[in-house]
Amino acid sequence: MQHLRNKNSEQRLIELTGRLSRMATEDYYNPYRLFSWPQTLPEDELWMSEDLLSVSGTEVMNELSREQLLRLAKWESINFYSVNVHGIRELLTEVTSRLYAPGFEEFTDFLHHFIGEENEHAWFFAEFCRRYGGRVYALPGLKTQDPADRTTENFLVFAKILIFEEIVDYFNERMAEDASLPETVRQVNRVHHKDESRHIAFGRQLVEVLYSRVRDEATAQECARLEQYLKRYVTWCVQSLYNPAAYRDAGLAEPLALRSRILRDETRRQAERRYLRRPLTFLTKVGIFQDQTIQAV
Ligand SMILES: [Fe+2]
Ligand SMILES: [Fe+2]
Repeated sequence: MQHLRNKNSEQRLIELTGRLSRMATEDYYNPYRLFSWPQTLPEDELWMSEDLLSVSGTEVMNELSREQLLRLAKWESINFYSVNVHGIRELLTEVTSRLYAPGFEEFTDFLHHFIGEENEHAWFFAEFCRRYGGRVYALPGLKTQDPADRTTENFLVFAKILIFEEIVDYFNERMAEDASLPETVRQVNRVHHKDESRHIAFGRQLVEVLYSRVRDEATAQECARLEQYLKRYVTWCVQSLYNPAAYRDAGLAEPLALRSRILRDETRRQAERRYLRRPLTFLTKVGIFQDQTIQAV
């Protein structure tokens, strides 16, 4: 019975990737021509939606002058694209190594689209950072899990990609629609959101299929360890959005102490839940997570 269910979901995934590959071909654009990149962006406008700022809802937010808020929105916008650049770089390495690998034969065509699009996303995000911030922020790495068997590693790689893409997409959707942001900020987010809706549709079905392959072999205890590992990854994603270097560049005093103060503010847990809701609901629904508890960040 379980075997039959696996077969059905694998068949559905093959059909979906065929459709998504055709859509990717039809929607293909040249990112090197698409963006016009004005010389500068208005410094008297927010570059990130106010409700997405890491200080949103906190006491710190109330203490900031308009000038400080503008500076912070600029550097948190740069940080958000920097997080994307590093996230993409890591996932590209993993996905590329799975081209034509056993278990992925049927999805290879779509993986080529995926890799090509992610390479372009990294380029336009980095271009934004370099042009308007003069840098791409470095980010602390995440300790990888102990080496596991190939089936488990395949599952973890694509589960992490899905978590990352779902979180980012919340920000992209919000900023694409926010008419108070400069058009270049909205465009970068809009273009990314369009490609990501295909990646997320693919990721959700693929992660389910890969998890069913893991579950066929793993004990309940092993599954619990995978859940713990992925939850640590969720925490790492959330933490990367509180970058002390962005606070420093915004001219705020004692950036490390400020970061702790912002993180301690309980209102942040509700804000984080907003962008974690979709991935956590999905992972719980398909049984990868037993609950939605995430370690305190
Ligand atoms: Fe992307
Ligand atoms: Fe993506």
